[in-house]
Amino acid sequence: MTTHAAASTLPPLEPDEAAHCAAVQDALRARIGERGGWIPFDEYLRVVLYAPGLGYYSAGSVKLGRAGDFVTAPELSALFGRALARQCAELLQTRGGELLELGAGSGALAAVLLPSLQALDALPERYQILETSADLAARQRERLNALPPPLRARIHWCSKLPDAPLTGVVLANEVADALPFRRFVVAAEGFQERGVALAAMNLTLADRPADAALSAELERIATPAWPLGYESELCPLLGGWIATLGRALARGALLIMDYGLPRHEFYHPQRLHGTLRCYFRQRAHEDALRYPGLQDISAWVDFTRIAEAATDVGLEVAGFCTQAAFLLANGIEADVAAAGSTAERARLASEARQLLLPGEMGESCKAIALTRGVDCALRGFRYQDLRRAL
Ligand SMILES: C[S@@+](CC[C@H](N)C(=O)[O-])C[C@H]1O[C@@H](n2cnc3c(N)ncnc32)[C@H](O)[C@@H]1O
Repeated sequence: MTTHAAASTLPPLEPDEAAHCAAVQDALRARIGERGGWIPFDEYLRVVLYAPGLGYYSAGSVKLGRAGDFVTAPELSALFGRALARQCAELLQTRGGELLELGAGSGALAAVLLPSLQALDALPERYQILETSADLAARQRERLNALPPPLRARIHWCSKLPDAPLTGVVLANEVADALPFRRFVVAAEGFQERGVALAAMNLTLADRPADAALSAELERIATPAWPLGYESELCPLLGGWIATLGRALARGALLIMDYGLPRHEFYHPQRLHGTLRCYFRQRAHEDALRYPGLQDISAWVDFTRIAEAATDVGLEVAGFCTQAAFLLANGIEADVAAAGSTAERARLASEARQLLLPGEMGESCKAIALTRGVDCALRGFRYQDLRRAL
């Protein structure tokens, strides 16, 4: 599992990695120069995560899995996809339709979901993947080509949401926390926005007075009031992303799983330093300027913002619970018990602990279901209902 590390103890770079990092730094210097000496943090993230050929998700590093920088639930264990398949099957069996996976990473989830849905007799008509990274889409193709031809034939990649609203299930695991976010600090003179500037041509964090829109949004969510020096993150893109997805769903469910909290916990005055984390070779740290283009940078998700945006576009918040409760309600224990040998059961039990335990991913990761035209209760949320916390 990922361990926490001081940025000073991170492993050094290979020469080709150092050259890549230097190219990203050059692009950032040019961008900061064009913008008059400062860029907001979300613009910094657009470059270091997504700039073609430079950004972490757009360039060729391994990224996900044990050989990469961090491990997501589908990378950690097939148990995640098998349990999720039961929730998708419930939705697809009664109403039919297709499945759309957003940000499919290495293809690990699709590789488990499709055979599991076949075993449950609930295959979607199509399994679409919307992936913004050309590099990851190529890896997904390579991995998913190994599926049996009748399953592989159902998979299609798309570069934008379908023109006609779809019926079925839309899935996004650890995509919301990869959206570029802004950073802010509470100062005596008012809210400051944290961005990136240059000091003697080196990248440095620098704060500027927040603009009117950011200040108004921070005023809205700052209850109870934050102390001086409080710093955190805000993802303005999240609401628009949910609204767009909601409009693309004619009937069915949008299932979002991610690290995150309801707003009152996310922005609790005692959470003084926010939720930003950087990941480099299974080490987590907070130095976002370290190794630009070579490390992942994410912040937790404000699930209340998701619920607000969903309600605004007529979706129902049909469930909200921890990942542990969601996976247990979808039969993860039965999958461990069904292991074919003692050794396999021990391996699966260890993986299940990482998915379920509160100190691992069990509580920090949440699942939310946003539905349209679905009138039954969803099985994945029958053990825990945290909607009132939103
Ligand atoms: C942290 S990875 C998670 C990958 C995978 N879902 C998993 O759980 O292993 C984030 C993924 O989202 C993709 N991504 C980022 N922004 C996206 C967007 N707006 N739409 C679709 N995919 C996006 C990235 O390229 C990457 O595949």
